[in-house]
Amino acid sequence: MNKKVRIAVLVSGGGTNLQALIDAQKKEILKSGKIELVISNNSNAFALKRAKKNNIPFEIIDKKDFEEKLKEILKLYKIELIVLAGFTAILPADFVQDYDKRIINIHPSLIPSFCGKGFYGIKVHEEALKKGVKITGATTHFVNEIIDGGEIIMQKAVEVYEDDTAEKLQKRVMEFAEWIILPQSVEKVCKCILKNILEEK
Ligand code: GAR
Repeated sequence: MNKKVRIAVLVSGGGTNLQALIDAQKKEILKSGKIELVISNNSNAFALKRAKKNNIPFEIIDKKDFEEKLKEILKLYKIELIVLAGFTAILPADFVQDYDKRIINIHPSLIPSFCGKGFYGIKVHEEALKKGVKITGATTHFVNEIIDGGEIIMQKAVEVYEDDTAEKLQKRVMEFAEWIILPQSVEKVCKCILKNILEEK
């Protein structure tokens, strides 16, 4: 069967996790799904340049009528799996319920540490350093109506060094955890979706 799960990646910033997914697709680490679309809530996101460079269609949706437009675009592109890769907005609860086990998020800590409302990007690493943890990492999880509260898919630990700054730690967590487990998690979920489609036939 040549069917691949149709993926949309939602981004707001630099898009290094999007890049990890694109690279994984090229290397066939991600082979059960295909990135069909990149969506951003920020027209200046560098992630959009990555999409353009790799000939992936992209859409920018602004705050106004966000949910309505998002639903419309996802339908238009027949999207079956959504990946939040550094996406800053919180998706409404009813939208999330409609996509049960079909939205994956990457978070830069070992959930349940340093997660939930307000824990985003560099702030997560600042809090980890403040607390003095010796191990941190990244988590992929399904998205439900609780912020960072959905079922965990994968986690990878990263050591914290004595002389770490939040920026140094963020870079290490990305390189040694996020960019590895996000493509692996997406492949795992896509495989599962394809299996279910086959079984339904
Ligand atoms: C990543 O570190 C991601 O884990 C984090 O934002 C960064 C986006 O970087 N996401 C969160 O904190 C979600 N709560 P990127 O745009 O280079 O992928």
